[in-house]
Amino acid sequence: MTELERKQDRAPVPSSWDYAPAPEARDLVQVRERYGHFVGGGWLEPKETYATIDPSSEESIAEVGQATKEEVELAVGSARDAFENSWSAISPSERAKYLFRIARILQERSREFAVLESLNGGKPIRESRDVDLPLSAAHFFYYAGWADKLEYAFPNRKPRPIGVAGQIVPWNFPLLMLAWKIAPALATGNTVVLKPAETTPLSALLFADVLRQAELPPGVVNIVTGDGRTGAALVKSPGVDKIAFTGSTEVGKAIQRELAGTGTHLTLELGGKAANIIFDDAALDQAVEGIVNGIYFNQGHVCCAGSRLLVQESIYEPLIGKLKRRLATLRVGDPLDKNTDVGAINSRQQLDKIKQLVASGEEEGAAIYQPPCKLPEKGYWFAPTVFTNVAQSYRIAQEEIFGPVLSVLTFRTPDEAVEKANNTAYGLSAGVWTEKGSRILAMAQRLRAGVIWANTYNRFDPSSPFGGYKESGFGREGGRHGLEPYLEFE
Ligand code: NAI
Ligand code: MG
Repeated sequence: MTELERKQDRAPVPSSWDYAPAPEARDLVQVRERYGHFVGGGWLEPKETYATIDPSSEESIAEVGQATKEEVELAVGSARDAFENSWSAISPSERAKYLFRIARILQERSREFAVLESLNGGKPIRESRDVDLPLSAAHFFYYAGWADKLEYAFPNRKPRPIGVAGQIVPWNFPLLMLAWKIAPALATGNTVVLKPAETTPLSALLFADVLRQAELPPGVVNIVTGDGRTGAALVKSPGVDKIAFTGSTEVGKAIQRELAGTGTHLTLELGGKAANIIFDDAALDQAVEGIVNGIYFNQGHVCCAGSRLLVQESIYEPLIGKLKRRLATLRVGDPLDKNTDVGAINSRQQLDKIKQLVASGEEEGAAIYQPPCKLPEKGYWFAPTVFTNVAQSYRIAQEEIFGPVLSVLTFRTPDEAVEKANNTAYGLSAGVWTEKGSRILAMAQRLRAGVIWANTYNRFDPSSPFGGYKESGFGREGGRHGLEPYLEFE
């Protein structure tokens, strides 16, 4: 480190800066009091309903349906009918037009969607505006381009659609996961029944209005809301030809058991416990930004989050010093405020899980650090947290916390880094920070993870396939690879 850097690192942390509130307009989006299920291009009045809330205030936003088995069957029937009688007869270039329209409407209405996504999910508006919405639109644009080029994507293999896809998505990226699932399914000629997560159904229900605007034929996309019971009914439905699931490893395993031997196609995108590896030649200030983005982005509700920081021993002290100083500048609070860096935890259930794992870290002997920060009284909140002095056997080094909690481990040699990084039941993602290109390539070959970032973290692009090894699941989303799970070949 230079003398200047040493001085900077000793300067007091500017924790007392006040920012004037910069709230995004809540009334950009009109939320209805009550929503049904979107089936056959219209709204089906639900038999049962529940209230969906704003996790930053615990206030109810709207009543939504809890779909029963019968309602799920109506949605599957409508998807089957659309597959056989309209969608599969439409030419691929016509299919592409619908996808391009959906992409453009999402762009046009992106401010409205961003507000709703933050309101219902708790994520900072800066992230929904700059990440979730642009990436969702980009995904539809990307797959629109493939719709009429499938025979070039798979030369000499004669691809054809599978049929009705049942798609179950989680609450951390509600609209983006919808886009990851629906765009490739439609591009390849399938029809869809989508189930959003129980805590974040609203952006999917607003998306139904985008489908209406795009004049997508009725029944091509159906949306049923509800909790795990609705998801289980969709998995069990005999009319579904393929299930695509993103969520917990526990539920993923249950779905795989359920479908074993049935011939239903399946892809699973499950949890992760990624290593973000910092070598001693890395640019430390940039690495600190990557570490922060790796674990505090979206409150750490990210399957590919860099939740295990592996630091080369020789730079441990300066790096952790810089990281702690940076943490003190993170602003935690109102998701709709444009200054907010860390928003609300998605649900009470998730907050309880984070608290329980953090308590286990303290009990097992790790040292906890949290910057001084005042959390709002109502709603679900958790301060950005760093654990040092972590042993590989601790629960916080093994289990997915899915919150703003980082566990720091150290290593001496590249071999040790690889061994520790791969010492997990998961294998979704990893990060490598070093000046050496050859080391990046060598590490990427040896890390058992589906996605590896070098000198960056949590970067996404629709053309780049995403998915896991081991208990992180199987199948890829994004890229040409992402078409394959929705196709059969003659
Ligand atoms: P979950 O796996 O229960 O929920 C994900 C989706 O699956 C939701 O739409 C849910 O309604 C549905 N679901 C639940 N039970 C089902 C069943 N038996 N059959 C079919 N669908 C079902 O995840 P949960 O409980 O919300 O979170 C628990 C933990 O899972 C988190 O703390 C986190 O560690 C992990 N998780 C990982 C995600 C990822 O992106 N890989 C996303 C969400 C959670
Ligand atoms: Mg669950």
